[in-house]
Amino acid sequence: MKSDADELFREAFGVEPRWRSRAPGRVNLIGEHVDYMGGLVLPAAVDRYVWLAGAPAHRWEVRSEASGGEDYLRALAAELGAGPQRVAAAASLPAGFGMSSSAALLVAAAAGLEPELDGREAALVCQRAEQKATGVMVGVMDQFASAMGRRGHALLLDCSTLDVRYVPFPAEMLIVVVDSGVRRELADTPYNQRRREAEAGMPKRARHVETEIERVKRFTAALEGGDRRRCGELLKESHRSLRDDFEVSTPAVDAIVERAWAIPGCLGARIMGAGFGGSILALVERGAEAAFEVAIGAPTVVCATADGAFAA
Ligand code: GLA
Repeated sequence: MKSDADELFREAFGVEPRWRSRAPGRVNLIGEHVDYMGGLVLPAAVDRYVWLAGAPAHRWEVRSEASGGEDYLRALAAELGAGPQRVAAAASLPAGFGMSSSAALLVAAAAGLEPELDGREAALVCQRAEQKATGVMVGVMDQFASAMGRRGHALLLDCSTLDVRYVPFPAEMLIVVVDSGVRRELADTPYNQRRREAEAGMPKRARHVETEIERVKRFTAALEGGDRRRCGELLKESHRSLRDDFEVSTPAVDAIVERAWAIPGCLGARIMGAGFGGSILALVERGAEAAFEVAIGAPTVVCATADGAFAA
């Protein structure tokens, strides 16, 4: 698993790393802002990564191209009972983009420090570390996808039982992530506030949670039944609910999403991840992606599903 992280490590510290690891970012097909409500989510690990090279040391020293850094790694090491490390991180995963680069950093670190961990355990440890490092009460979806995703599949996770079911992802459909151009750190967003409102049962927030969980079930059935058009329609419904009921979209994001809906070969699109900027997920028929990338007029990343860092 050699990568630029190796080179960074040697340049920075003048010695060879003792451990190496990598973890993928994720997309979320559907099931937004329901993980912390014990709902169903359907993310997939994708082929954009954070790579780490590390070695035990007397004090922490981190060189990172990835988002988050020493605070995250310290929090994770504390959870695992590991001592200080020298770590170099390289990434092909844009930070602040909505593809969970911070979860990937933590999952990669867990894989490097404790490769024998069970994937579920690793995901939970990384969630706790992220909550402690940032104060943002994130759910467990991103860490699960990065740890336990499987190539060729989406991962249907029941966040109340932590049961996982792998759902084959069709080759005819492409995952295209579109950059809204708005970078943000979750700590600077009303993420915690939305979570509290949902937990308190505020009517609009509760309606989103309830309808979104239903959409996850329908999307999964459509995916299994090969009904790609229905998958696309459900993305549009999800976007409207996130925009109007959960209120995590922005006018700039809405404009890109609506542009995407009108492009031939685009099955559907919606804001992805926490929201408040970040990125947009579009599902595009294979063969239509080049025209889509031109028509959308914003930077895009075409992703393929990938194995998680703890994939069995
Ligand atoms: C962020 C969090 C996840 C989840 C999403 C919204 O990515 O880390 O736990 O809550 O937002 O679905």
